Amino acid sequence: MQTQGPWWKRTTTYQIYPRSFSDANGDGIGDLRGVIDKLDYLQALGVETLWLSPFFQSPQADFGYDISDHYAIAAEYGSLTDVRELIDRVHARGMKIVLDMVLNHTSSAHPWFLASQRSRDAPMRDWYIWRDGKEPDGKAPPNNWRSMLGGSGWHYAPATGQWFFASFLGFQPDLNYRNPAVKTAMLDVVRHWLAAGIDGLRLDIFNAIFKDESFADNPFSWRPAPSESNPHGFFQRHVHTIDHPDTLAFARELRAVVDGFTDPPRFLVGEVFGNAETLKRYCGEAADGLHLVFLFETLSARLRGHAVREMIRGFEDAFPEPFSPTFVLGNHDRPRSIHRVKGDRERAKLLAALQLTVRGVPFIYYGEEIGMPNHDMPLHEGLDPVAARFRLIPQWMVGWFRRRGILLNRDECRSPMLWNAARNAGFAPDKATPWLPIHPDSPATNVAAQAAHPDSLLWCYRHLLALRRAEPALQDGALSWLEMPTLPDDVVAYRRSLAGVADHAVDVFLNFSNREVALDLHAYAGRSCYATRRGEHGPVPNARALGAWEAMIIFDAETAQKHEGPGVSSEAFADSLDG
Ligand code: NOJ
Repeated sequence: MQTQGPWWKRTTTYQIYPRSFSDANGDGIGDLRGVIDKLDYLQALGVETLWLSPFFQSPQADFGYDISDHYAIAAEYGSLTDVRELIDRVHARGMKIVLDMVLNHTSSAHPWFLASQRSRDAPMRDWYIWRDGKEPDGKAPPNNWRSMLGGSGWHYAPATGQWFFASFLGFQPDLNYRNPAVKTAMLDVVRHWLAAGIDGLRLDIFNAIFKDESFADNPFSWRPAPSESNPHGFFQRHVHTIDHPDTLAFARELRAVVDGFTDPPRFLVGEVFGNAETLKRYCGEAADGLHLVFLFETLSARLRGHAVREMIRGFEDAFPEPFSPTFVLGNHDRPRSIHRVKGDRERAKLLAALQLTVRGVPFIYYGEEIGMPNHDMPLHEGLDPVAARFRLIPQWMVGWFRRRGILLNRDECRSPMLWNAARNAGFAPDKATPWLPIHPDSPATNVAAQAAHPDSLLWCYRHLLALRRAEPALQDGALSWLEMPTLPDDVVAYRRSLAGVADHAVDVFLNFSNREVALDLHAYAGRSCYATRRGEHGPVPNARALGAWEAMIIFDAETAQKHEGPGVSSEAFADSLDG
């Protein structure tokens, strides 16, 4: 009989962008106390692990992904006391909490960089990557290495006449991991937060940690832009700047540190880019590297039966047990997922059903559960430093990129959470001025409105999450295809089962088409089902058409009893919103 895997494999994760989630002190900026206030909601929704984007001390030039003190909390988000309280309260509910760790770079305002840039022989010079420019006068960058956003990754510092390297933006200088002191300092940061009780770390652009010592030019490539499955672009293959073998070795070193914390075990999920083969290498051949990596192909896969099946097949092949795939529909850098389904909440339910029933760890981005839309904003108004970098690009091109899954103004997917129909959508007190404008759809699209409607997208998430919690086969059971020759190609059908536990098989039917499909369900007599279109719950009927873009999940009666979803009234759910 298959035993159940570690908790982090079975969990469901919800990403909170703290700045935009809930503003408790009325300064227009979301904060940790705001997150604490929403724990009732998150628990009632049914997510188990919270991942918070960075809230450490930072000039906020990249809204926290530019850290200037890894041990301190940015005052606008709260205090160390708030973090401790948050960790304790999350744990008291049996939930987990994951922090976002930016190992690759710091803010240029970090005391380490300030010390490093002082002079060529400053004691901390070697903490960052400094080089002479090209001869004759050193005014050209040392080599052709590009940043992840295009353009040279090298930045000239006139005070010392040398260049420093930054994989992302110029105010985020890359740390030099070839200096053992840097590695020690950053591993100390990791240990510090693990000792503080956090359950895991999301690792920002982990693929960039080590650069090649040769400093040789990256080779030319015809690729103009990177894509989900291929991070090379801007006319070069970034062979010397990403996916370096030393980064893979570092993944194992980091894993060993994390494995030192056993009660409970902790996990690492890496932001890395590339095809499944590249990504898999980060997990280590012996599963001794990162526990999980994001598989961003889920963000762009075509939503047709064939394409979805191919994607799942690819994940199954690349991440067989003991590895585990992940499933992401959005994050703080990407267009919101509702646009992939043209704003149709029924299709969004189907996507949620896929995400929460397929093998792998789901990552839900805040607001996804209500189908929160992107907030289109003119590029030149963007607070996002990426928007500033691309501000001269015409607005039509912004739309062109957005449709291809690239946001040039990431403010668009970071607008404040829509809690209710109040002036500031319940994100902040009415008299406050939110840091980003509230989406104009807030009167129609908000948590309170959907909590009152059991056939809403929000309730669908709630049902699916409850089902997953109640059913071990959905947590980490194997996935096999249901061979039903009569089903059209656009219906994706699979079974999740735990070996040796036959009655814990769950069958899933996902209709990626505009057509209703007749289902013969005789074989499922006596079992229970959940169907997304009308939020139907109950015994499996003999025959029932699977609606256009509908999901149906079939499970056993025992699970149905444990699945408290329908038993919790909309009033009780609404109560959880009071904070
Ligand atoms: C990736 C993060 O997801 C993004 O938000 C950030 O701007 C860059 N890394 C730089 O840290």
